Amino acid sequence: MGAPVRAPLTSRLAGFGTTIFAEMSALAASTGAINLGQGFPDTDGPEEVIEAAVEAMRGGCNQYPPGSGIPALRAAIAAHQRRFYGIELDADGEVLVTTGATEAIAAALLALCEPGDEVVTFEPYYDSYAACIALADARRRPVTLRPPEYAIDPDALAAAFSPRTRLVLLNSPHNPTGKVFTGDELELVAAHCRERDVLAVTDEVYEHLVFDGREHVPLSTLPGMADRTLTISSSGKTFSLTGWKIGWATGPRALVSAVQAAKQFLTFVSGAPFQPAIAHALGLPDAYFESFRAGLQAKRDRLCAGLEAAGLEVLPPAGTYFVTADIRPLGEDDGHAFCLALPERAGVVAVPTVVFYDDKSAGRPLVRFAFCKRDEVIDEAAARLARLSG
Ligand SMILES: Cc1ncc(COP(=O)(O)O)c(C=O)c1O
Repeated sequence: MGAPVRAPLTSRLAGFGTTIFAEMSALAASTGAINLGQGFPDTDGPEEVIEAAVEAMRGGCNQYPPGSGIPALRAAIAAHQRRFYGIELDADGEVLVTTGATEAIAAALLALCEPGDEVVTFEPYYDSYAACIALADARRRPVTLRPPEYAIDPDALAAAFSPRTRLVLLNSPHNPTGKVFTGDELELVAAHCRERDVLAVTDEVYEHLVFDGREHVPLSTLPGMADRTLTISSSGKTFSLTGWKIGWATGPRALVSAVQAAKQFLTFVSGAPFQPAIAHALGLPDAYFESFRAGLQAKRDRLCAGLEAAGLEVLPPAGTYFVTADIRPLGEDDGHAFCLALPERAGVVAVPTVVFYDDKSAGRPLVRFAFCKRDEVIDEAAARLARLSG
């Protein structure tokens, strides 16, 4: 017998385990429960976009594309930023195509942070943030958002900054809370960045999923922010094509080229045949974006009504795929235990919001449900959840 093998996982990743989404999706698969855990739609994106990818494959678009992305997609991303936000970008140098927003986030943190640098972010946070900050050997400085408003506490924000702060990582619309940060909150973040000469990295993957007439405002459009903000987004949510993993990072040339320096050694390039298809998708008429948003808003209302009827306290989201509910009206307060038992009790899978917090007490009774599902699936989930209130 040889010597025992040392635990192989680097200490930087120890403690992160399997992502909650994989764990909960596996639970859904093994129990046959309805999966309202992971945020992916159960219908495909626009037929013409899928056809464009098929055509690209048949047309020989199957080898390594350029590292920064094909020119047509970079031009379409720049045109999208101009069309929706009035942002002017040079598609040659200020736009980088990535393998989903996930890669853009990882590459940005690896490229921009020195060991020991601090990253201010807002908890609950999307789970890849903590892992990628750790991989970059940086430190996270979370600012806790508390229900029901999930407002940024100005004192907590100020206290999160230090001389080691390298960047603020801001996700709006925000997963898992569904919060869309207000103009005043964005200005507060921007003021800290300007005054302290700190970079901003924004995750805007839910930019088109904002409800009730709200507008998405990119942080980079605030005064003095264009020069210091790397804006990240993705086609996955906007076009219901989450498995294609085509994302992008845009912003000042120096930031984008830093991210590309890391990206080239992660994936080198991103999915060739999907790129012309997403270029096509980004040019779809306004009617597509409007009806997609209205459809999702109706699904939000459908699931919120079901959760309320089941006896949960609903925290209605202003954007994203997700609604959070507080389980305390059911006489329970441990969201993790609740989610582990939910497939058995009610045939539904949800995600305990506590996994997105460093401050575990802040998220303990909260549970996240995804509503990006067919109406009949939402209705069946609601009917099953009604069992909870007896
Ligand atoms: C806030 C947030 N950022 C990034 C991602 C990942 O985006 P992509 O699939 O484009 O990598 C997700 C997916 O759920 C998300 O919720």
